[in-house]
Amino acid sequence: MSHAEDHEGTRRDFLYYATAGAGAVATGAVVWPLVNQMNPAADVRALASIRVDVSGVEPGTQLTVKWLGKPVFIRRRTAEEIEAGRAVSVEELTIDKGAQNANKPDADAADENRTLDEAGEWLVMIGVCTHLGCVPIGDGAGDFGGWFCPCHGSHYDTAGRIRKGPAPRNMDVPVAVFADENTIKLG
Ligand code: FES
Repeated sequence: MSHAEDHEGTRRDFLYYATAGAGAVATGAVVWPLVNQMNPAADVRALASIRVDVSGVEPGTQLTVKWLGKPVFIRRRTAEEIEAGRAVSVEELTIDKGAQNANKPDADAADENRTLDEAGEWLVMIGVCTHLGCVPIGDGAGDFGGWFCPCHGSHYDTAGRIRKGPAPRNMDVPVAVFADENTIKLG
């Protein structure tokens, strides 16, 4: 490498770093006020996590609560619903186009991965159809015994996975845990 080329390379590196640096500063300056504006107000933050008393939820029934402006389904599944959900292999599932690899069935969609407890009794989902946002009908509705969205005919199974119709994804599973045996904490 000649001296001139060497010099050129160094210069280019310098320009690259200088440009990247300037870009970062400019981006920071633009992004910061937006981030600041997006910081939720204290009252919104307080609601980011809620506790739900589920002591009255019998097997085969569903509680719907509103959380962060959306309905959340808390279903206590019957033994049959659990069995139906677990009998399905992920290969049989309609491909969830929101999954990481949308060309392959999503391993996370296995029934065991969607329920709150190991026994699979408790299923917590954002109760919004992933097609255009209607609230699906529950209590064993649809061709797969789970939920049915009448807006355009999406059928979800007993684990809330899309099985038929235009919805592109399974119903979303939010962050949730049992805070104690009668209380589910969302968020
Ligand atoms: S919004 Fe549910 S099927 Fe279209």
